[in-house]
Amino acid sequence: MPSINSHTPTLTSRLPNVGTTIFTVMSALASETQAVNLGQGFPDFECDPALVDAVTRAMQAGHNQYPPMPGVPELRQAMAAKMKALYGLSVNPDTEVTVTAGATQAILTAILAVVHPGDEVIVLEPCYDSYVPNIELAGGVVVRVPLSPGTFRPDFDRIAAAITPRTRALIINSPHNPSATTWSEAEMQALQALLAPTDVLLISDEVYEHMVFDGQRHQSAARYPGLAARAFVISSFGKTYHVTGWKVGTVVAPASMTAEFRKVHQFNVFTVNTPVQHALAAYMADPAPYLNLPAFYQRKRDLFRKGLDSTRFRLLPSEGTYFQCVSIADLAVSERDLPEGDFCQWLTREIGVAAIPLSAFYGNGFDQKVVRFCFAKRDETLLKALERLSRL
Ligand SMILES: Cc1ncc(COP(=O)(O)O)c(C=O)c1O
Repeated sequence: MPSINSHTPTLTSRLPNVGTTIFTVMSALASETQAVNLGQGFPDFECDPALVDAVTRAMQAGHNQYPPMPGVPELRQAMAAKMKALYGLSVNPDTEVTVTAGATQAILTAILAVVHPGDEVIVLEPCYDSYVPNIELAGGVVVRVPLSPGTFRPDFDRIAAAITPRTRALIINSPHNPSATTWSEAEMQALQALLAPTDVLLISDEVYEHMVFDGQRHQSAARYPGLAARAFVISSFGKTYHVTGWKVGTVVAPASMTAEFRKVHQFNVFTVNTPVQHALAAYMADPAPYLNLPAFYQRKRDLFRKGLDSTRFRLLPSEGTYFQCVSIADLAVSERDLPEGDFCQWLTREIGVAAIPLSAFYGNGFDQKVVRFCFAKRDETLLKALERLSRL
């Protein structure tokens, strides 16, 4: 019997530079070595049981067939109401809100919808790992602009210098993975002023919108008319409601941009699963879960930071997201001199705590002796990790 592989034609990869993501690698290593996994960004606690009940109820009520292509109307209406209440933006749920299979699909679909071969798309490094391959799949040209080294603030002179007549879009992400910084109002205004004379579109990845600490407001692109008019504003229910495995998100964009987005969406996923959409719509009637999220995660952040205070890890600010970056430069152990990726492997194997190297978020593997921990974990998980890290 011939094996399935015997006559497979040779392939030319569309994404020759893509391998297994660092998140998969570190999670596999963490599970193999039984390390505490503070690497990949997902909670190790359950979501609100009421949300699971809502999905069950939706299934029992017969919401089990294809929903409308752009998403269940109740969920789009709930999302439009939320945009108005939180960010002051009026959007039409019929023509300006689309439900997606998580933010990942939203970002890819937005890029495929607007980027033509040869168009330039600016990413601010370090950046989430899907952006660059998404642009490459669209035939676009990736233009990498670094966030300011050390502080991870946007450098508007460098962004301005990167804009050319071929620039189709700029991707921003606040609160920011991996640095845990958030854009300020002044920075959003500077961006609005910079883009005003251009036709550059904005892809605003706001999956951590409800994880903003120390009393700050999330600076959604939706708050700024000059940005909202050119933006795909991308959200993720997975992050907000502790259900990263459900893979449901939304895209809010002006009608003409949404129309192009949906052309791709309908031949990509076509629709997103029905009962979860009904459940999310019902659950959104109460804003408390997302309004309480900053306090929920700030407490975890503070617990984790307090524990790290007595170590030689140097804490970087964590203004938002559920990440904490630390410098390893001052550690007493000689492994501090390893490249970040090797250090994370060592930390996982020998100390029993998995982390993610920041170098994984740069095209050139830029190494600044900084690694990222995820604190979206039960207190007991964080305490166990801290106990292990206290040896350093
Ligand atoms: C910055 C950023 N964007 C997008 C995503 C993907 O979100 P989703 O799980 O909804 O696809 C993540 C998940 O880690 C992320 O960190």
